[in-house]
Amino acid sequence: MKILSVVGARPQFVKLAPIHSATLAAGVEHVIVHTGQHYDPMLSDIFFEDLGIGVPDVHLGVGSGSHGVQTGAMLAALDAVFDEHRPDWVLVYGDTNSTVAAALSAVKMHIPVAHLEAGLRSFNRRMPEEHNRVITDHAADLLLAPTQVAVEHLAHEGLAERTVLVGDVMTDVLYVTRDKVAAAPSRLLAELGLTAGSYYLSTIHRAENTDDPARLLEIVKGLAELDKPVVLLAHPRVVAKAATHGIELTQGSLIAHPPLAYPDLIAAALASAGIVTDSGGLQKEAFLLRVPCTTVRTETEWVETVELKWNVLANSAEEIATAVTRPRPPETHAAPYGDGDAATRAVQTLLSKRVTG
Ligand code: UD1
Repeated sequence: MKILSVVGARPQFVKLAPIHSATLAAGVEHVIVHTGQHYDPMLSDIFFEDLGIGVPDVHLGVGSGSHGVQTGAMLAALDAVFDEHRPDWVLVYGDTNSTVAAALSAVKMHIPVAHLEAGLRSFNRRMPEEHNRVITDHAADLLLAPTQVAVEHLAHEGLAERTVLVGDVMTDVLYVTRDKVAAAPSRLLAELGLTAGSYYLSTIHRAENTDDPARLLEIVKGLAELDKPVVLLAHPRVVAKAATHGIELTQGSLIAHPPLAYPDLIAAALASAGIVTDSGGLQKEAFLLRVPCTTVRTETEWVETVELKWNVLANSAEEIATAVTRPRPPETHAAPYGDGDAATRAVQTLLSKRVTG
């Protein structure tokens, strides 16, 4: 059995780590293909090093570009890779341009495709990720769903027969990392002279929050006016857009800081008073670490975090201020994202399911 994983963007490297360990444990051959969508060392190499993944077997070096250019370059390059390796499964992750390119390329070559993190929906058709995930789910042969809600979305779209609930692999990697960093204080505290519980941690990178200058300014203003320092772990996209629009990212309470490695991010999140983000992964990580989260979006795919009151959607500066200062949410033992064993279940499912064609 040979599984070929295609990854390209930061959150996919995090999801790859537990899958890679599970393939090793199961004695399965695992080929890792990096599209090159993310290439800055702090968005790419550091994850492979810290999470013990080793180095990718193939690197396509596609880099940045418009959606069409980037996705097209991946499609063009993947044919030869799939042809050379002829895997039993191509495994694609999440909802980026790397995900949809790999799914399309594989189905056109009649190679079975499995989609990890299948069935998420925002129902916001302005998001590039929404199209990527819908197209990928409908193309794929096997849908590895992280939650019961995702299973239900897939059933509504007529995809129940291809769906298996495995849990969320981000829970697997988060629990392992949380236990590793538990004893050591976050490096961010020493660097910025902060104490535990005295700051908020923030990430903002989505196109719908960064591309429109008025929208970005509203968010920056909202963060700059908060009652505690806000450390903004600034993705290159927000840095570039802020520079283009002449928006200062360090102002008032707001302190712009380069992105962190995964263990440092988890340590910094654990020590924070709250998280303000538009990242899907960080919303879930906040919930799993029981740190209150404010999500700067009009909707979320991770509805469980909102239903359990650990996450609040906020868009205007005023809504953000109200949300971050709300009382601590009610304690809960709910585990909508699984028990930390999703990657093993995903690999076992791949081993047990054979697709003909
Ligand atoms: C991509 C995903 C998004 C995911 C995010 C995680 C798509 C459509 N979007 O968004 O779903 O949440 O990754 O981070 O696939 N850049 C660099 N260095 C890099 C990579 C990008 O400077 O290593 C800059 C470039 O200016 C580039 C911009 O960031 O044009 C956007 O990068 P891109 O990969 O297109 O999308 P992300 O915003 O990272």
